[in-house]
Amino acid sequence: MSEKNPYRYNGDSLVVENNTDKNNTKSVYIESYGCAMNFSDSEIVASILSENGYKTSDDLYSADLILVNTCSIREKAELTVRKRLEKFNKVRKSNSKVKVGVLGCMAERLKHKFLEEEKIVDMVVGPDAYKDLPNLLEEIDDGKSAVNVILSKDETYGDITPTRINSNGVNAFISITRGCDNMCTFCVVPFTRGRERSRDPQSIIEELNDLNIKGFKEITLLGQNVDSYLWYGGGLKKDFSKASEIQKASSINFAKLLEMCALTQPKMRIRFSTSNPQDMSLDVIRVMAKYENICNYIHLPVQSGSDSVLKAMNRQHTRAEYIKLIEDIFKIIPDCSISHDMISGFPNESEQDHKDTLSLMELVKYSFGYMFKYSERPGTPAAKKLEDNIDEKTKSRRLSEIVELQQKHSLYRSKEFIGKTVEVLIEKESKKSNLHWAGRNQQNTTVVFPKENYNIGDFVNVKINSCTSATLVGDAIGFSKNN
Ligand code: SAH
Ligand code: F3S
Repeated sequence: MSEKNPYRYNGDSLVVENNTDKNNTKSVYIESYGCAMNFSDSEIVASILSENGYKTSDDLYSADLILVNTCSIREKAELTVRKRLEKFNKVRKSNSKVKVGVLGCMAERLKHKFLEEEKIVDMVVGPDAYKDLPNLLEEIDDGKSAVNVILSKDETYGDITPTRINSNGVNAFISITRGCDNMCTFCVVPFTRGRERSRDPQSIIEELNDLNIKGFKEITLLGQNVDSYLWYGGGLKKDFSKASEIQKASSINFAKLLEMCALTQPKMRIRFSTSNPQDMSLDVIRVMAKYENICNYIHLPVQSGSDSVLKAMNRQHTRAEYIKLIEDIFKIIPDCSISHDMISGFPNESEQDHKDTLSLMELVKYSFGYMFKYSERPGTPAAKKLEDNIDEKTKSRRLSEIVELQQKHSLYRSKEFIGKTVEVLIEKESKKSNLHWAGRNQQNTTVVFPKENYNIGDFVNVKINSCTSATLVGDAIGFSKNN
């Protein structure tokens, strides 16, 4: 019996052979949930394990080790993981030798409690402790349970070349910062991923060059808050003020890092995620405008359009400041696409606050959006200080109004491309037709077109003929100059 792992990004694409796996005898099945950082971390875990006798496997039932990289961002994410653990428990009943480990944010949040609550778990490992996996595995091989949830001041895994699990060979993530210092009151991330620290730019460039040699065409620089990237020789972001004058003078911020990446590999597309309005500088936007290979797309979560809600969320900007930033972006990069994250039903959100959110959306006309109902997370400042007092029905109704408006705007933005020619990087076969390729344009919109003689990884110019709110449909008119 075999169950293909459905929880990996690009799960339906080409698999790149992982040479370091070749002589490994044990196998690890890794399932990842949540943000891109978790998927990227799973590649780091796979790399660490490949040095210790494990190869990655898609077959849950024959694996020696099952790892689940978990997300705590909303209650629902945690419930999904608990359901999966029930499944793993059944697998374990048929194969008593298999070990189960929990990684990521839930591991960090629940720590030892996990072992008590979920009896079948052998190992609990937080996001900063993956280098300890070989030791922890030895412990569980001895029949003990193992836990390491220590958060680090300097761990960035900059010295580890990720094993690209189930990659399509075209897109890859490069993580550039870890942790977050922003302390948005609703958010569990500062507690599960610790204080913010940046990775040595040298190691980022090395990873970029390595990906280029391996044939990758597009990379996404990853961080909880990429605009806050700051390298001054190591250490926490919050300790920058204590750095020496020389360190300060030679420090590298996100705008500089972005420029270094764009210049180092001018033929590769560069993306980044996630941006935070309070930290995004005009310099970053200018660098984006200056280099053609940096994609004209910014994911710029706002969470709410109301000043009082933004304040209660401890977002460090006002509605007016956010609007000014959006205006600056469109002034400097007129064809930039912008997406958002939005939360409905934050404590005390009034009907007027909700209307302010809708009116902000009307103003920006975002290309995409990721929209959520507020979910109280234990231990966060909001959970401690504010009552989760918006009833479920109101949260749901507000959310559906937000989603409906977003669909309208996505269609509006998609329609802007009709009649135009866009550059598409081919990533995979279209889900709906094996005669069509699917890829994205710079603005991150999916484009579908007949395959002809093109291949995955080609940069192609596509003339857009029609669209839905999520997809552009067109015909290829030749390779782009990037190819
Ligand atoms: N800066 C991060 C944000 C991580 S959380 C990044 O890299 O994307 C992603 C989104 O989840 C947030 O922007 C927010 O919209 C949503 N979110 C976070 N905590 C939440 C909560 N308690 N309830 C509902 N949505 C939440
Ligand atoms: Fe969370 Fe706010 Fe950081 S949403 S990840 S605390 S920027």
